[in-house]
Amino acid sequence: MATIQKAIIPAAGWGTRFLPATKAQPKEMLPIVDKPAIQFIVEEAVNAGVEDILIITGKNKRAIEDHFDRSLELEDLLREKDKGELLALVERIADLADIHYIRQKEQLGLGHAVYCARKFIGQEPFAVLLGDDIIVNTPSCLEQMLAVYEEVKAPIVAVQEVPREEVNRYGVIAPLEIDGPLIQVKDLVEKPQPAEAPSNLAVIGRYLLVPEIFPLLEMVQPGAGGEIQLTDALRLLASQDLVYAYRFQGKRYDIGDKLGFLQATVEFALARPDLAGPFREYLAGIISSALGNLQIAATKE
Ligand code: G1P
Repeated sequence: MATIQKAIIPAAGWGTRFLPATKAQPKEMLPIVDKPAIQFIVEEAVNAGVEDILIITGKNKRAIEDHFDRSLELEDLLREKDKGELLALVERIADLADIHYIRQKEQLGLGHAVYCARKFIGQEPFAVLLGDDIIVNTPSCLEQMLAVYEEVKAPIVAVQEVPREEVNRYGVIAPLEIDGPLIQVKDLVEKPQPAEAPSNLAVIGRYLLVPEIFPLLEMVQPGAGGEIQLTDALRLLASQDLVYAYRFQGKRYDIGDKLGFLQATVEFALARPDLAGPFREYLAGIISSALGNLQIAATKE
């Protein structure tokens, strides 16, 4: 049995970066090809051996609950129409894991969202997975981190090098020393300006945490963006105890960003046997006509 059996998926944000698509539906339900983004995250947790998942929801999030629930009418319809494959696909989603929900009544930040899970977590270590980061790798990012957790038995945050000018979009670690993928964290800063950032190792949305984080989350004051930041509680934890950062293997898509969302959509479609052929042809066509237009423009100059 995995040491870490519980995971939290915060999904209470407004998704303002994707308005108007997110006016009446959660951003976590936006599909990458045909699978809602949050299903990728739930599957990563389940495949890593997590048994109980708590999704922190907010307003307009009913669609998430419906997605992971049975839909008896739809199942009947698919059965009647003899659509066995689709039926299996739909039934499997409801059987993925024990998914629980809690509402974050006020949107006070990621730290506050995680704090809302304290009763669900109790006294066990747990994982936090953020829905904006989809990471592709075998073994998954979470599986890699769980393997490291077995060795160090201390909190771990996933990190990746990002361009200096982008550090202000992330929590950034101050490493004690860098020697391989596992790094001891001296300090963390949420969304620093590039000139003030202690490194370019950015926290990506996977964390393995311990219950000791909860009293610290209670103590921290609103930080970057006026929000209660998980990074600020981790900072306090790192000043008292060992906290590690882990440079994971894998390709990460920032689907909270429009460009990242498009990249994920294109690359996931290209990886799909049922779509890759015609989609590649279509892309080749638009690329060659764009290149043709460029050549025409160059000859005119
Ligand atoms: C959150 C965290 C940040 C982390 C990022 C990863 O920021 O606060 O520390 O680096 O997720 O995606 P957000 O993207 O919610 O602003």
